[in-house]
Amino acid sequence: MKVLVTGGLGFIGSHTVVKLIEAGHEVVIVDNLFNSKLDVADRIEQITHAKPKVFIQDVCDKEKLADIFRQVLPDAVIHFAGYKAVGESCQKPLMYYRNNIDSALSVLECMQEFGCKNLVFLRLLLYMGSLAVCLLQKLVLDKRQLILMGRQR
Ligand SMILES: NC(=O)c1ccc[n+]([C@@H]2O[C@H](COP(=O)([O-])OP(=O)(O)OC[C@H]3O[C@@H](n4cnc5c(N)ncnc54)[C@H](O)[C@@H]3O)[C@@H](O)[C@H]2O)c1
Repeated sequence: MKVLVTGGLGFIGSHTVVKLIEAGHEVVIVDNLFNSKLDVADRIEQITHAKPKVFIQDVCDKEKLADIFRQVLPDAVIHFAGYKAVGESCQKPLMYYRNNIDSALSVLECMQEFGCKNLVFLRLLLYMGSLAVCLLQKLVLDKRQLILMGRQR
C-alpha cells in the first residue's frame, strides 16, 4: 500500500514510518520541519535500509498538497502534522486552530479530490475543539474508515 504520512518526520510519525516500511508499505512523507529535522529521514533509512520520499511542504497549502497527491496517488493517509504543545496551545490558541484545522481540511479535501478513502488521524483534540471534531466527522467520506484516536476534553 502507498501511504502518505503527514508530519512523518516528527516523533510519532517517524516511528510509524519505520513500522510501515518494515511491514512492506511504500511511504511518502510530507512535513514542513516546524518541529523536526530532515536528517530524521537518514535515521529512518539507517533502521529500515529504505529511504522514504520526503516532501518539505506545509500541508495547510492545499494547492501544493494537491500537487503531491497528484504525483503520489496514495492509497491511504496518516495525518500527524500539527502543533501539539498543550501549554503553548493555551497561550496561542489561534495559531493552533489555524494550523491544526487548516491542515486537516487540506488533507481531507485532497483525499476527496483524489479518491483516497483510508485515513488515520491522530490529534490531541483538546486544542481542536468540538466544532472542528464534528466538522471532521461530517467531512469524512466513509466514517468506518476514520480512526479517531486521542481524547476529546
Ligand atoms: N506525542 C504524543 O504523546 C501524542 C499523543 C496523542 C496525540 N498526539 C498527536 O499526534 C500528532 C503528532 O504528534 P508528535 O508527538 O509526533 O508531534 P511532533 O511535533 O513531533 O510531530 C508533528 C510533525 O508535524 C510537522 N508539522 C506541523 N505542522 C505542519 C504543517 N502545517 N505541515 C506539515 N508538517 C507540519 C512538524 O514539523 C512535525 O514533524 C499531533 O497531532 C499530536 O497532537 C501526540
